[in-house]
Parts: sequence; structure tokens; C-alpha cells
Amino acid sequence: MLLHMLLTAAATAALVSHRIDETVCEDRCGDVVIPYPFGTTTGCFLDDNFFITCKKSSNPPQPFLWKTNILVTNITIDGRLHVMSTAGRDCYLEGGESDPISTRRVFSLSEFTISSTENMFTVIGCDSYAYIEGSISNRLYTSGCMSFCDKLDDVENGTCAGTGCCQIEIPKGLKQINYSAGSFDKHKSVLEFNQCTFAFVVEKTKFNFSSSYIWNITEKVHTVLDWTVTDHGKCENGSSSSMNYACKENAKCIVPEDGSPGYRCQCQPGYGGNPYLPNGCEESCLFEILENHIVNDGNEEQVKEVAELAKICLNVKGEERPTMREVAMELDGLRMMHKHSWVNAELNPEETERLLYDNADVYKYGDGSNTTAGYDSLKDHVLEVLDDGR
Ligand SMILES: *[C@@H]1O[C@H](CO)[C@@H](O)[C@H](O)[C@H]1NC(C)=O
Ligand SMILES: *[C@@H]1O[C@H](CO)[C@@H](O)[C@H](O)[C@H]1NC(C)=O
Ligand SMILES: *[C@@H]1O[C@H](CO)[C@@H](O)[C@H](O)[C@H]1NC(C)=O
Ligand SMILES: *[C@@H]1O[C@H](CO)[C@@H](O)[C@H](O)[C@H]1NC(C)=O
Ligand SMILES: *[C@@H]1O[C@H](CO)[C@@H](O)[C@H](O)[C@H]1NC(C)=O
Ligand SMILES: *[C@@H]1O[C@H](CO)[C@@H](O)[C@H](O)[C@H]1NC(C)=O
Ligand SMILES: *[C@@H]1O[C@H](CO)[C@@H](O)[C@H](O)[C@H]1NC(C)=O
Repeated sequence: MLLHMLLTAAATAALVSHRIDETVCEDRCGDVVIPYPFGTTTGCFLDDNFFITCKKSSNPPQPFLWKTNILVTNITIDGRLHVMSTAGRDCYLEGGESDPISTRRVFSLSEFTISSTENMFTVIGCDSYAYIEGSISNRLYTSGCMSFCDKLDDVENGTCAGTGCCQIEIPKGLKQINYSAGSFDKHKSVLEFNQCTFAFVVEKTKFNFSSSYIWNITEKVHTVLDWTVTDHGKCENGSSSSMNYACKENAKCIVPEDGSPGYRCQCQPGYGGNPYLPNGCEESCLFEILENHIVNDGNEEQVKEVAELAKICLNVKGEERPTMREVAMELDGLRMMHKHSWVNAELNPEETERLLYDNADVYKYGDGSNTTAGYDSLKDHVLEVLDDGR
């Protein structure tokens, strides 16, 4: 019963189709969900920064950012925009001529920042360097990366430490970037296996270097942008007095920590949905069900984990289901965490150790395997329970 209600709660947290005033808005373009403040037609986006061109002539239809050729692959309401960007390349032919396909890439997005946590600037090649330029709060940023190798055998898969592949982090708040690829000696001594330098900004988790990339890579790569609302008032102490404030009922505003201008909106604790839509944040029945004192500002994540567990319980076939006892243990674990308020506290390591030790049995499952410390393990536990193959 409780589990069923939890499941319903989890399901209703999904996105609702949006309607701005009297305009009914498309909430997807092909396979991609377009949540407000983004929109594809007049009256359906907050301002021009959030305009998406939905190209209906493709099958399925494809969304592009503004009027660019930047393909959008996912938009998350918490502030991420997943796009495909074009790799820069500088190629040479026998005899040292430059291949005409060589290009410098300008990826000049005036409004959205290149996510510093999700991407890496990457350069591939054996006689190669590339620069990346951009601006951080109107200050010029320039950096670069270089990569060498004498033969293909020296190149190791999965590492980008400068032999065949070089990577550097993206600084916080970087915008309006462009990058250009180059070579020191026109690839003369490596031409038979490496004609080009490639340079691009790529989503870390979608890139795993392989020696085969030394020869060629795909034209487009996954890149993650961070979006915020700008020109809609100033966010102070979670709200704004501005007439065109973008966060609606039961939502607060959050200033991005990377120093980017503007703000994002977030539903208040106990509410879920789209904070940019009028009445978009709906009271989540999940939080009503659970005893009030369990839910506080910091532990929503745990509560959601429990909801996930509940969903698993209902979804999977009988034999794969965790036992009631295991579920009870998860819930116990949650309560225990609340009691010790590990949730948002940054405890010193010793204290965390001690608390873990005190409750060690809560964290152990039948097979006696080691589990990692702290709250992060809850998720692993859910997986472990599944992997048990019941
Ligand atoms: C988009 O991102 C959300 C949240 O990370 C994820 O649940 C969803 O599967 C993604 N959709 C696509 C089409 O990749
Ligand atoms: C590259 O980016 C920098 C910093 O944003 C800018 O000053 C420069 O004009 C850009 N170059 C090109 C060719 O767009
Ligand atoms: C990357 O690929 C190598 C094999 O080429 C594999 O061993 C490694 O686990 C992969 N790493 C990631 C993070 O996927
Ligand atoms: C690296 O991965 C490629 C395929 O992606 C494979 O052909 C090559 O043999 C691998 N190299 C090593 C050293 O494992
Ligand atoms: C390299 O890949 C690009 C993009 O996929 C393609 O257009 C080009 O023909 C390829 N070049 C070679 C030499 O395979
Ligand atoms: C924000 O909160 C701080 C401390 O609570 C207070 O000093 C400040 O005046 C508040 N600012 C606004 C604009 O409400
Ligand atoms: C658990 O981990 C500790 C420290 O990493 C190790 O000493 C111990 O042998 C492990 N126990 C099991 C059962 O794997």
C-alpha cells in the first residue's frame, strides 16, 4: 500500500505538458523533451535564449539551439543542456599540404556556459596542439593542450596524458569559446597513421579515448552546457522582487556557484515539477505520506532513493524483488541517517567513521561484503539488492 503510493508519487514527478497563458505548447521535439523555459513556438519560451528550432523535416524531428546548427539532445530542468558540437580538425596530406577540410571552430554561445564539471577540452594527435579561448566574466581565457607520439604502439587506450591524447579541465564560468587545432611539423613523421589534430570539448562520461581515434573521429561530439535565466531580476536570498521574476509558486531561485550571471529556479522542499511554470511545483504526495519529521531540506534525495526502491519492488518480477526484510533495512538506514543528521552535515572523517561503525549492521547484507562509507552507499545498496538476483 505504502509502496504503491510511493510509486505513484515517483511517477507524477515526471514532466507535465506545458501551457503558457492561452498558448498550448509542444513539450517535445522528436525524442527530446522541451521543458519550459525552453520552447519551440512564439509565446512558449521565456525569452530568446530559450528558443529551440524544431526541424520537422527530419525524421524524427530534431531540436536545434536558437537558429544555429547546434543539435540539442537533452534538456534538464535543473540547468543542463546537452548538445552536439563540432570537433575542430587540422589535417595534412602527403607532401605537407594542408587538407582543405581544416577548420577553426567557433562555438560562441553568448548566454550559456560550458559546464566545468561535465566536460573536458580534448586534443587528439601525434604532432598536435590546440588552443581554447573564451571569456570568464568578460575576462579573456586562453589555454591549450599538446600531444605527441612516435608510433601507434605507444598510444594507450583510455588515457589522455599527452601521448596521442591530451585533456584539460574546463574552468568555471567559461563562455563564448572557440578552439583551433594545429601541428608542430605538419605531421610529417607520423603521416602514415596520423594525418590530423582533433580538438573538441566533450562530455567526460561519453568519451573514452581509443587509439583508433588517432586516425579519425566522428564529426560531432557530446557537450554539456549550463543554462541560467538572465535579465529576469536579481536572485537574492532565494527570491526576487522583479516584475518578471522567472520562478513561480512554491519555487525559489538559486545563484549558480560558478559565478555565471543569472539564476535557476528550484521547487521548494516537498514540491516537485517545473518551477518555471505557473503552479508548476506541485506538492509531492511522496512527502505527505512520509512522516513529516523525516523530510527536511536536506534529505529529499534519500527519500527519493526510497521511492526508487519502492518502484523497483513493484516493477520487477517476483523472484528479482528484494525481500521485505531488505526493504525494511533500507528504511531503517534512512531513519538512522536522519537521526544522526549526516544528510547535509559535513562531518569530520573520524566522526563519520564512528557513526558508521555504530550502525554497522544496518549497512551489512547477508553476503558480508564490504560496503563503502556514508550516504553514498545507499544507492549501491539498492543496486546490490537487485544484483542479488532474487
Ligand atoms: C535526459 O536527462 C534525464 C536526466 O538526466 C534522463 O533521465 C533522460 O533519460 C535523458 N533523456 C535522453 C533522451 O537522453
Ligand atoms: C575566440 O574567443 C575569444 C574569447 O571569447 C574572442 O576574443 C575571439 O575573438 C574569438 N575568436 C574568434 C575567431 O571567434
Ligand atoms: C575505456 O575503454 C577501455 C578499453 O578500451 C576499458 O578498459 C575502460 O574500462 C574504459 N573506461 C571507461 C571509463 O569506460
Ligand atoms: C585500443 O582499442 C582499439 C579499438 O577501440 C583496439 O583496436 C586496439 O587494439 C586497442 N589497443 C590496445 C593496446 O588495447
Ligand atoms: C573522418 O571522419 C569524417 C567525419 O565522420 C569523415 O567525413 C571523413 O571522411 C573521415 N575521413 C577519413 C579519412 O576516414
Ligand atoms: C538576505 O539575508 C541577509 C541575512 O539574512 C540579510 O542581511 C539581507 O538583507 C537579505 N537581503 C535581502 C535583499 O533580503
Ligand atoms: C573490507 O575492507 C577492509 C579495508 O578496505 C579490508 O581490510 C577488509 O578485509 C574487507 N573485508 C571484506 C570482507 O572484504
